Amino acid sequence: MRETYYRAGRFVDSDLESMQIDATKIAAAITDNTKLLLPVHIAGTPADLDTIGQVAREHKIPFIEDACQAPLAVWRGQPVGTHGLGGCFSFQASKNLTAGEGGAVLTNDEDFANRCYDFQTPGGGRAKASKGRGSNFRMTEFQGRCYGLWAPARSQGTVAGQNAVGIPSSFQDDPPSTKLKALGVDLLSIGQFSPNVPEETLIAESKDGEYRSFLFREGKMVGSILLGDASLSAKVKAAIESKKDFTAILTEETEVQSILRAL
Ligand SMILES: Cc1ncc(COP(=O)(O)O)c(C=O)c1O
Repeated sequence: MRETYYRAGRFVDSDLESMQIDATKIAAAITDNTKLLLPVHIAGTPADLDTIGQVAREHKIPFIEDACQAPLAVWRGQPVGTHGLGGCFSFQASKNLTAGEGGAVLTNDEDFANRCYDFQTPGGGRAKASKGRGSNFRMTEFQGRCYGLWAPARSQGTVAGQNAVGIPSSFQDDPPSTKLKALGVDLLSIGQFSPNVPEETLIAESKDGEYRSFLFREGKMVGSILLGDASLSAKVKAAIESKKDFTAILTEETEVQSILRAL
């Protein structure tokens, strides 16, 4: 049996000013075993790609940008994820752009694209002969269990990928991507769901096994949860996106029913 090992990377310290990798310390961390540089653009901000590119060229080592936390960030006018051999994006649930799970790798390098494909499709993919390692980390559970969610998740993933490389694109459908039928209940969860400051007003109701909440800031709806009956999801989404003004009906006593009528 052939054993496969993944060698742990060597970490490079952070720069206290930018909170990104300190690119001036990368060269000192390179050894004869170094195959790849993997700068991470942390928290939406790009790492110093001038210095990283220069070190990569000088040492003839490719670099791949981990842009998972930084879609839409640009370095000298060019989106992150497009500067090196490849760029990685994550669409996992906590990311700025999410499709529930999944991710994308950008590259202009055909060989690298084939190897990524191989890795994702248990060692055999687009390239006729697999060159090596594979995984089975595919999203079968996600596809199978989240009934109704897969198609909009793919569509949202496409939007996320296009935005990541600077192509303006937005999710055009009703919001079924955030409507969950997996547990046999309809759920819409959109925008902010709990107040952060006292000026934000939460109007909520739990009745007959259903729950509805609407959060308002300065008279505008900024988030909602509809659990059990999400038939108003399109109207709620439209109210939030169009910044519909609810000031006239918002008082201390406003109840959920008034909100539903005003939608
Ligand atoms: C910078 C960074 N890279 C990679 C990942 C991993 O992404 P995923 O969970 O989609 O594999 C994350 C998030 O978990 C991240 O924040």
